[in-house]
Amino acid sequence: MPSPNEILAELKKIKYPGFTRDIVSFGIIKDIEVAHAGVTVSLAMASANPEVVEKIVAEVKAAVAAMPGVPAVNIQIERPAQSAPRAAGIAQPRTIAGVKHIVAVASGKGGVGKSTVAVNLALAMHGLGWRVGLMDADVYGPSVAMMVGVEKAVTVTPERRIVPLERYGIRYISMALFINDETAVIWRGPMVTKLETEFLFNVEWGELDCLVLDLPPGTGDAQLTITQRVALDGGVIVTTPNELALLDVKRGVAMFEEVHVPVLGVVENMSYYVCRKCNHRHEIFGHGGGAALARSLNVPFLGELPLVRELREGGDNARPIVAANPAHPVSAVFKSIAAKVIEGLDRSEAQHAS
Ligand SMILES: Nc1ncnc2c1ncn2[C@@H]1O[C@H](COP(=O)(O)OP(=O)(O)O)[C@@H](O)[C@H]1O
Ligand SMILES: [Mg+2]
Repeated sequence: MPSPNEILAELKKIKYPGFTRDIVSFGIIKDIEVAHAGVTVSLAMASANPEVVEKIVAEVKAAVAAMPGVPAVNIQIERPAQSAPRAAGIAQPRTIAGVKHIVAVASGKGGVGKSTVAVNLALAMHGLGWRVGLMDADVYGPSVAMMVGVEKAVTVTPERRIVPLERYGIRYISMALFINDETAVIWRGPMVTKLETEFLFNVEWGELDCLVLDLPPGTGDAQLTITQRVALDGGVIVTTPNELALLDVKRGVAMFEEVHVPVLGVVENMSYYVCRKCNHRHEIFGHGGGAALARSLNVPFLGELPLVRELREGGDNARPIVAANPAHPVSAVFKSIAAKVIEGLDRSEAQHAS
């Protein structure tokens, strides 16, 4: 009979469906018991997706059964509570002193308006009276600094902590403010992710009600690493109405579920176009996909944003629409999205407290 450690080594070869990371480092294996009658593997799975659960169970079973001397394999599945301790060897996600809530904005791919939503969501939350910080975690496509506008150089405290910039009432920082194009090329993959999380913890945020993280586009290993290292209170997923983008939403939801982070909701961007001439609403990509998908995935739908020139111009000119034109209908949509995000954060806080 193999030892629990030998079995664990074997299980390390199994990749989590959709990720390059193995199921052991994911923290799924809770216990391995080797007895006369056979091996019992206990799995702690947060995923609500039955396909993912089935696939993992089948692969674990097959891997252990194939080991010499194993008469039978028994799998036990535990559905961990939100606050369940993680498996040994998995780093606990870190909180940031003085920061009450951390929200990550994710998307399946670039160009869907993730940064636009992150910036305006942060501003809208500020408009609702919250103290808000914004961190651009998208090193390869940093746009937050451009969208918010950089007025002065970043400074550090005597303790060498980074002081965030402040504009339109929110504090913000980006690792991109410290790197030039050459270093950006050298910094690749896991190293960037590691540096970035360290960077995030070295910012002197002060007292914040909420820190908004603009994640790099995608829902792969890099994003997963950040969501595992930082103690997130919620995730927001930005998508566009076409079908491929909607598939990405499923991945986004799965990613947050895996790290036990509640999905605060889905934002559908570039949902429709209001013609300037006829004032008619054109649903060029088809409409309602985001809302329907959110319903089917059992996550809140936060709102839909039209394709409007002012939104792009605001981003290009460091005059984000919520700050520069609060009376614009799109600013009202952001305000309602922000209110729902705050509500979601309050709700999960209440659940934790009970
Ligand atoms: N609803 C919208 N209407 C018009 N332009 C938009 C809208 N959302 C985003 N954009 C523009 O599209 C481009 C990509 O948006 P961005 O927020 O940078 O996407 P991402 O962060 O997902 O890569 C930017 O030029 C932005 O100003
Ligand atoms: Mg971006």
